[in-house]
Amino acid sequence: MTERITKSMAKNIYYGGGTFALLIFIALTFDTVHQIPERSNQQNMTENVVAGKKLWEDNNCVGCHTLIGEGAYYAPELMNVFQRRGASDEGAFKAYMQGWMASQPLDTPHRRKMPQFNLTNEQVDSLSDFLIWTSKVNANEWPPTIEG
Ligand code: HEC
Repeated sequence: MTERITKSMAKNIYYGGGTFALLIFIALTFDTVHQIPERSNQQNMTENVVAGKKLWEDNNCVGCHTLIGEGAYYAPELMNVFQRRGASDEGAFKAYMQGWMASQPLDTPHRRKMPQFNLTNEQVDSLSDFLIWTSKVNANEWPPTIEG
C-alpha cells in the first residue's frame, strides 16, 4: 500500500459523499410528505370526526387512554377499539359505544373505573366517528395486538 489518498481525492469524497447523502435525504423527505395525506386518512375527515376529536380533547379522554400510543396508560388503547368491539362494523361499534358510555361507571370490583360523562347520543356518535376514523390511520400495524 504505497498509494495514498491525495488532498483532491479526499475533497472529492467529502463533497461527493455529502451531496449524495443530502440528495437521498431530500428525496426521502419528499416521499414522506407525499405519503402523509393518504396515511393520515385526511380525505375522510368529516364534520362529525372533527366534532368527535373536540369532545375527545374537552373531556380529556387522553388523561386515561392512549390513542395511537400517545396518552396515559391507565385505560385501554383506543386506536383499534373499532376492530376490537365492533369487528370493523360501523353500526355494531356505534351501538357498543352508546351502551358503553351510558353504563359508566361499571360496578365491577377489582376493575379500573371510567367516569360517567353524561354525553348526548349525538356526542357519543361523533366520538364513535372519530374513533372509527382514527382506526383507519396508517400507523404501521400499531397497535400490535387487538387488545391494544
Ligand atoms: C378517569 C379515566 C378515564 C377517562 C378520563 C376516560 N376513560 Fe374510557 N376507560 C377507562 C377505563 C379504566 C376503562 C376500562 C374499564 C373496564 O375495562 O371496565 C375504559 C374503557 C373505555 C372504552 C372501552 C374499551 C374497550 O376495549 O372496550 C371506551 C370505548 C372508552 N373507555 C372511551 C372513552 C372516551 C371516549 C373517553 C372520553 C370521553 C374516556 N373513555 C375517558 C378510564 C377512563
